[in-house]
Amino acid sequence: MERDIERILLSEEQIRQRIGQMGQELTREYEGKFPVVVGVLKGVAIFYADMIRQIKVPCEMDFMAISSYKGTQTSGTMVVKKDLSADIKGRHVLILEDIYDTGNSLNFTYEHLMKQEPASLKICTLLDKPERRKPGITLKPDYVGFTIENHFVVGYGLDFDEKYRNLPYVGILKPEAYAK
Ligand code: IMP
Ligand code: MG
Repeated sequence: MERDIERILLSEEQIRQRIGQMGQELTREYEGKFPVVVGVLKGVAIFYADMIRQIKVPCEMDFMAISSYKGTQTSGTMVVKKDLSADIKGRHVLILEDIYDTGNSLNFTYEHLMKQEPASLKICTLLDKPERRKPGITLKPDYVGFTIENHFVVGYGLDFDEKYRNLPYVGILKPEAYAK
């Protein structure tokens, strides 16, 4: 697995430190608000587990899964595959995401949750690739772990073809690994 990595972009230590900093900010933001922290599966799983433990206020954990219709890559039509368990009407909600890329997924999730009339809705993404944003998408994450260049990255929850999620760091995949 490690052989397929061109280079490590974000080490375990860099990620740990940044999550600690964001944790302090999120702790201040959600003091006394008992937020619902929504993770969008599956890419967020590792980040979610580390991030939520740095938010030092009571939180409700919840998860969603979404997917795009196959064969219509450019249309960006998304569907909810697993919805929340919580009723978020009137609640403070924080979305955790692995990466903000074209923006399709996060915009869909945001709209889906907004319809349920939360008291507030904020976004925290570990990675942001602004160069890849689709024209017309204006939604901005409230918290960004790292802004990265336009590389395809894996590890720390992120996959290529369902592999590499269990690498402890974020790395750039060797081009030959795509071809396999
Ligand atoms: P979107 O293009 O912003 O909708 O990105 C949606 C999803 O694509 C993310 O939640 C990831 O699962 C996946 N994705 C985007 N960029 C990468 C990457 O560099 N590595 C692995 N997965 C990615
Ligand atoms: Mg994802």
